[in-house]
Amino acid sequence: MTVFAPQDLFPQLAEWVANLDDVFPGKPIKDSVWAFAQIEVGHLLALAVLGGTSVLMNLRLIGVGLTDEPPRELHRNLAVWTWIGLIVILVTGILMGASNGERLYTSEAFTAKMIGLAAGIILTFAITLPATKNDGALGPASRVMGVIGVAVFLVAIWVFLQAKLANPGLWHVIMAGGLIVLFAARGLTRIIYLGVMAVMIAAQQVMTHVVIPADAFDRLDPVNKGFAWAFALVILAFAVVQAVASGRDGRSGFFVKGMAMASILVWVMTAAAGRWLAFA
Ligand code: HEM
Repeated sequence: MTVFAPQDLFPQLAEWVANLDDVFPGKPIKDSVWAFAQIEVGHLLALAVLGGTSVLMNLRLIGVGLTDEPPRELHRNLAVWTWIGLIVILVTGILMGASNGERLYTSEAFTAKMIGLAAGIILTFAITLPATKNDGALGPASRVMGVIGVAVFLVAIWVFLQAKLANPGLWHVIMAGGLIVLFAARGLTRIIYLGVMAVMIAAQQVMTHVVIPADAFDRLDPVNKGFAWAFALVILAFAVVQAVASGRDGRSGFFVKGMAMASILVWVMTAAAGRWLAFA
């Protein structure tokens, strides 16, 4: 048992959670053969909408992607879809949770997911939406909230890291971060970045498939965790180099670009925790 599951943090809710699938709306969903699956489809469609608008708007703030349009034009077209995605993902999540309460209550993945969700909401409403609306400019209150959002995001990652192994979802986040930086990087920075990544990927393969036997888990785990840290640090370093090198794009400077990158990754992490929840 771990101390990060909701049951450890809120033991007083045990009885309420145990009864959730005996009352509306949990009971009819649990008793139906199709309802859970249909609701989960809605959950994943909402994720596609929410994630899609986040990627489009935040990449625009970073200065890549749909650069023919000013950020405020993207905001005008997409903000409503961010709201729809968020509301539908919350409603469908709560409905599934009501029919399956004890599973969430005993899951550390659910804790990571809810902290990630909080960070995602803060970053969306403090950074993504106001910065695109104002063509990249951000007021002091939004900046402070953005820093708080990143701090909450780091807590979510820390909970994610408490799993015994380097959690598979963690590699999703690292890979997504790596691809976003590859997309955002330009010129020589991109070429050097690709070269460094190729060497690191090859080194990890050799270490975990040749040097250490595939079944020696006690030796593989620390090596994989070490590579997870190394990849994360290299990706972060290139993200900083690129954000500084690209200078200002319209009204969005270094701070907004960094925050925009975090605002994409936070949804990737939350979705990875959701996936972990489904198969854990
Ligand atoms: C109130 C908020 C939420 C609740 C209560 C919730 C609850 C759930 C539940 C109960 C499942 C099904 C797990 C299973 O199959 O047993 C699930 C799956 C999932 N959720 Fe959420 N969720 C919420 C928000 C989110 C958000 C914000 C995201 C993404 C950013 C997300 C992404 C996912 C994903 C990717 C799956 C996995 C589906 C699969 O692979 O089968 N969820 N969620």
